[in-house]
Amino acid sequence: MSFLALDPKRPYQELDLGDASAELREAAEACFEVARRAGRPRKETFQPVDDSTVEVAILERHLAGNVDVFGLASDAELSNAIGFNSRHVAASIRDGEMRRVRRSFDDVLRREVARAFAPARAPLLFWAADYWYPAGAYMGWHTNNRFPGWRIYVTHASEPGRSFFRYRDPLSGEVRTSLDARWMLRFFLVDPKRPLWHAIYDDAERFSFGYMAHPRALDAAVLPRRPETPPLARDLRRRGAIQLRLHGAPALADGAPETPCPRRPRARLLTRSI
Ligand SMILES: [Fe+2]
Repeated sequence: MSFLALDPKRPYQELDLGDASAELREAAEACFEVARRAGRPRKETFQPVDDSTVEVAILERHLAGNVDVFGLASDAELSNAIGFNSRHVAASIRDGEMRRVRRSFDDVLRREVARAFAPARAPLLFWAADYWYPAGAYMGWHTNNRFPGWRIYVTHASEPGRSFFRYRDPLSGEVRTSLDARWMLRFFLVDPKRPLWHAIYDDAERFSFGYMAHPRALDAAVLPRRPETPPLARDLRRRGAIQLRLHGAPALADGAPETPCPRRPRARLLTRSI
């Protein structure tokens, strides 16, 4: 059996999820429904555009001018997609119901992603983004370089082939257009030293669920015990708590809708306790 791996030598990977599992579809449908309701006022004034907004010539101008475009947080004109619960994006719609249904989706998705990786190598996922792309929605060329690390995006396209993820391979410099299947999983590495420029366009209806992914998060659970380790029973209880936090606990507490770039010190803190 081959497992997925977050390998910097392969900074972009994609996976067609086929029909996805019934559990994932059901959790996603709840998100779609809430997004359409919460986003309705925005949808009424939505201005569709064509795919010239993500043409390669725009990227070439950015590259020639040596400019970086970080993302929506710093460039409000970058997209007309309808986003939810991002503290860093002024236009993002704050909606508690969306947060709730998204958490349920995250629980299902975390389990499915964990199964696709080798044991103890499953990434730790943190909420990063929720977007509804009505027909004529786009996300212009950008790098996300302000928040380095791995990203995982799950997308659903109502009409496969009518939406796409376009990116510049940071290794070869080649620009590729990855058409959406109905359900797709995409992994990519945001590394300011080797920017992975990307853009999105949708001509039907597309939803995307984004995560920050920490590939080495589980290392804390397999480190050897330190000499000053507490008594065994206490140690096991602590290990149990750590496993729960890594595998099952929601990444985010109420009132903290996102952690765009969770910091390593937390992992070190966990390491000290085992
Ligand atoms: Fe992005």
